[in-house]
Amino acid sequence: MSRTGKGNLKARYGTWALVTGASSGIGREFARELAAAGLNVVLVARRRTELETLTAELKARHGVDCVVHALDLGNGDSVGFLEAATADVDIGLVVAAAGYGTSGAFLDADVPDELRMIEVNCRAVTELTHVFARRFAARGRGGIVLMSSLVAFQGVPRAATYAATKGFIQVFAEGIRRELKPHGVDVIASAPGPIQSGFGERANMSMGMSQGPEVVAKATLAALGRRGTVRPGWLGKLLEASLAPLPRWGRTRIMQQVMAGMTPTTGKKATDSVRR
Ligand SMILES: NC(=O)c1ccc[n+]([C@@H]2O[C@H](COP(=O)([O-])OP(=O)(O)OC[C@H]3O[C@@H](n4cnc5c(N)ncnc54)[C@H](OP(=O)(O)O)[C@@H]3O)[C@@H](O)[C@H]2O)c1
Repeated sequence: MSRTGKGNLKARYGTWALVTGASSGIGREFARELAAAGLNVVLVARRRTELETLTAELKARHGVDCVVHALDLGNGDSVGFLEAATADVDIGLVVAAAGYGTSGAFLDADVPDELRMIEVNCRAVTELTHVFARRFAARGRGGIVLMSSLVAFQGVPRAATYAATKGFIQVFAEGIRRELKPHGVDVIASAPGPIQSGFGERANMSMGMSQGPEVVAKATLAALGRRGTVRPGWLGKLLEASLAPLPRWGRTRIMQQVMAGMTPTTGKKATDSVRR
């Protein structure tokens, strides 16, 4: 068995994990995988009802403990609240899956919405990572999973700001991985291609061919501690393999064509309303 296979996540990182974005999609699947491995989970997202439904499921199926924090990570004080609220919980693994995308012509962008996305996708992730990296370094072990994307590796016309947030996460993860390794802390960037979740509706992107969110959770946890970046699922690997031989400008031109097919040029723009 690998050093960090599902069977020994608990032995390696301890009994508690924290998952942001646990109310839907990829984050919810991480929570399910971690609970299946016997870890108790702190669940974070805005929608309390979804988090409580997941709590009931995880307790019934796996007999683990769950704690719910219904928080908007776009709010500047949310990570400070989480830090205080979890001060007495020996969390050893953090999955920062909360995030969303936007799409469309940059000239038509709703700038406050773009800035809110940067707050959630970058500012909150940086702050959360700092809080737990320090705790993990102090206890001499820990794991940090950050959500990058296939779009993180080149500019993406019609999703320029979203791709830039994921480029930030990818580069951030690569840097802190080397810094935290001597402290016993594993860091991984998970960079999937299109995944079925709430993402497409929120980003106003038609996802077309996509894979289920469970492939992301399984592949990422299997690679944690062994690799710095994982590309979960055959679809993401195939798309990356077809982009890899191209120079960066060529990748961006291909992404322009891909995004032209995925993002409507007219029609209703998705809002950031909380889906209750
Ligand atoms: N789906 C894909 O194709 C894909 C590909 C590559 C990377 N990713 C990345 O994977 C991550 C998870 O996305 P997903 O596909 O699972 O989408 P999803 O199903 O829409 O899930 C997004 C999660 O983030 C939470 N969230 C969003 N805004 C939040 C806020 N302000 N405060 C707290 N929580 C917030 C949502 O919860 P609430 O709405 O309850 O707050 C939800 O739990 C994102 O970082 C995304 O960029 C997705």
